[in-house]
Amino acid sequence: MRAAANPVVHIDDDRFRVTEWQFSPGAETGWHRHDHDYVIVPLCDGQLVLDLPGGQKANANLTQGVPYSRREGIEHNVTNGSDSAPLAFLEVEVVDDTLAHRRRAMMAALMAAFNARDVDGVMACMAETCVFHASAGTEAEGQRHLGREAVRQATAAILQAFPEAAWSEGQHVVAGDSGLSTWRFVGRRADGTAVDVRGCDVFAFDGDLIALKDSYRKARG
Ligand code: NI
Repeated sequence: MRAAANPVVHIDDDRFRVTEWQFSPGAETGWHRHDHDYVIVPLCDGQLVLDLPGGQKANANLTQGVPYSRREGIEHNVTNGSDSAPLAFLEVEVVDDTLAHRRRAMMAALMAAFNARDVDGVMACMAETCVFHASAGTEAEGQRHLGREAVRQATAAILQAFPEAAWSEGQHVVAGDSGLSTWRFVGRRADGTAVDVRGCDVFAFDGDLIALKDSYRKARG
């Protein structure tokens, strides 16, 4: 049984988390997944032993003051490779829990819910007072669906109209209280005809949630 490395949190705000990891000889962090991009700044020279998914192992040499960066998604267990010397490094995580970041995540969650054909998941992204302007309809705005129940029914109707539907290549940007998602839609209507078009949604936000989804699609032919 190895000793546990000791995390000391120096900064923890909506933009950064800075943790000093202190390892006694042979100590380990335990398995963890990095949910954020991060930079490691070694506070001394040393050697890490990394347990990786799939039973692989790797060694990493640390040089005092020489940083390295990694992206989110890394999973490992980190051990001080020395059985005689302590080790310490700073971990600087870019947390980015800002309103704009949460709104971008909400647009990605909405697209994922459509791809999962999950009407409840779609509605979980929508504000209490919400509006959906469809990409087609008799009005200048396209068909307008006002209120949660109308938006829910319109969402279900889209999924019913397209037994096969996949939104991909999503790009999401936020500017103030507005958002823009661009995507490619590939699907098949109930009558079997195929659709493959690019389009976008213009959003208005209420807090973290979507108050308006205004859809546009290329017309082919
Ligand atoms: Ni780690």
